[in-house]
Amino acid sequence: MVEIIEYQDKHREGVLYIYEHVMHTPREDAVADLDNVLNMPTGRVFVAVDGEEVVGYSTFWFTKWNMVGYIGMIGVREGQQGKGIGKKLMAAMEKYGKENGVRKIYVDTGSDNLQANIFYLKCGYFPECAKYDFYKPGVHGIYYVKYLDGSK
Ligand SMILES: CC(C)(COP(=O)(O)OP(=O)(O)OC[C@H]1O[C@@H](n2cnc3c(N)ncnc32)[C@H](O)[C@@H]1OP(=O)(O)O)[C@@H](O)C(=O)NCCC(=O)NCCS
Repeated sequence: MVEIIEYQDKHREGVLYIYEHVMHTPREDAVADLDNVLNMPTGRVFVAVDGEEVVGYSTFWFTKWNMVGYIGMIGVREGQQGKGIGKKLMAAMEKYGKENGVRKIYVDTGSDNLQANIFYLKCGYFPECAKYDFYKPGVHGIYYVKYLDGSK
């Protein structure tokens, strides 16, 4: 059974594997991104584990001055996608946000990532704005938001 827990050092290689093979992030950048979130006072990394195997992960932090949360990365191993693991990771980040008074959460993805765009919509996020050519020429950044009190 897959459960969502907070990252521990023993999950490091499993998480880096997904950064590299699912998110296509070069290892050096993956290490820097992971350590950056782990070093933030509000940063949390959640892992989806099936026994000892890491099958998914997500990174999250929030800024205290406006109580706004940000999802940095979310990835599920290829053979495990479409089984509800991504939704469980989103729920874990939202629970942590709510417990800490976060008002709303942002996440962005490229306009060419159909899977992620559908996924965020299915998770109750709405597209608030777009940044033109943000990812690369022709690929726009789509910025999704969810109010945790359900007010908007
Ligand atoms: C996007 C991602 C994290 C979603 O995780 P997942 O475990 O596959 O998603 P879930 O199984 O929880 O699906 C949740 C919902 O999204 C829908 N969904 C997910 N992928 C979909 C796809 N390719 N096409 C259509 N719907 C999709 C599911 O049908 C489900 O809908 P439901 O709630 O009505 O049943 C995962 O597929 C992934 O790692 N993708 C590659 C990396 C990536 O693009 N990450 C986001 C970068 S910004």
